[in-house]
Amino acid sequence: MNTITSALERPVPSAGTPAADDPAAGLAVGTGRAQAKAILFGEHSVVYGAPALAVPVAALPAEAEASFAADGVDRLYSALYNGRLDRAPERTLPTVTAITAARAAVGATAGTTTGAAQRPLQVRVRSRIPAERGLGSSAAVAAAIVDAVAALTGVTLTGGERHDAVQTAERAAHGTPSGLDARAVRAAGPIRFQDGAAVPLLVAAPLHLVIADSGVRGRTREAVQGVRERREADRDGIDRIVGALGELCDLAVDALAEGDTATVGAAMTEAHALLNALGVGDPALDHLVSVAAAHEALGAKLTGGGRGGCALILAADADHAATLSGALHEAGAAAVWTTMVAATDPRGEAPAR
Ligand code: MEV
Repeated sequence: MNTITSALERPVPSAGTPAADDPAAGLAVGTGRAQAKAILFGEHSVVYGAPALAVPVAALPAEAEASFAADGVDRLYSALYNGRLDRAPERTLPTVTAITAARAAVGATAGTTTGAAQRPLQVRVRSRIPAERGLGSSAAVAAAIVDAVAALTGVTLTGGERHDAVQTAERAAHGTPSGLDARAVRAAGPIRFQDGAAVPLLVAAPLHLVIADSGVRGRTREAVQGVRERREADRDGIDRIVGALGELCDLAVDALAEGDTATVGAAMTEAHALLNALGVGDPALDHLVSVAAAHEALGAKLTGGGRGGCALILAADADHAATLSGALHEAGAAAVWTTMVAATDPRGEAPAR
């Protein structure tokens, strides 16, 4: 069973590590790191202005290393493709776009189109985040690349510039990203996200989450497009669902602050039904949600773009999460991870813009 436990109290560095001499290659190396995210509330409805609630999943990191290419050719090394950037296949477009966007951001900030920002790059990506599973793989890889390139070139990007570069890559990945994923993959803890702004949340009692992979590839671009088409055909009906999803999100935000995990779980299960009504469900996800319910999960729902990908399940405690993991694996989940969201009180921190 693929089970990883992560504690989210460990903040992930939000900026890349400054370039350092790499004795092996004799070259300067800049590194960047981000992590997976899981959406508890607000996938799809966030696109129409409703609030969303997401948590980072630190146990599933994405890391990038950037160095200057000694032979003058841009190159990418990753699980998907190794080779020249100009010959990279279509499926690497989001990653290639992240490199291009990082270079452009660094060049614009440095106020020059020459120099370090223009030198050919070698970018190596290592990610533990399964792709196309609704866990923010594309945003995390892009965030790691942007920070690695900035660190290599010695340019300090603002939070807004880093975010914009990730969003450029996310547009290549799935069209019209709300920005939720780009924020959550860099967050230190749970966030409420709405209209581009992320606010860290007060969590009074830990959340024990189980993420179960249906094994079916999620299709965020098609799912987002599908909701848009449904909304064009029935604006009032879809807006009612969007509104209800937004209310569930804020009910859960309040419940989190009170340590009322039972209410959070019940709202998750309601959200799953509403997401099915939006047309982004999948029978494999319904199966995982019903297995979780049969094992007394506090709540369960699809997470991320849907139409495949993962189910997110709320357990009562760590032992219950382990029991649920076993049951979900036996019921056919392709992989199962557990993650613990620690109680946290971020009051006083400014919202990230
Ligand atoms: C994808 O992880 C989340 C969606 O809401 C799309 C978005 O927010 O851009 C489905």
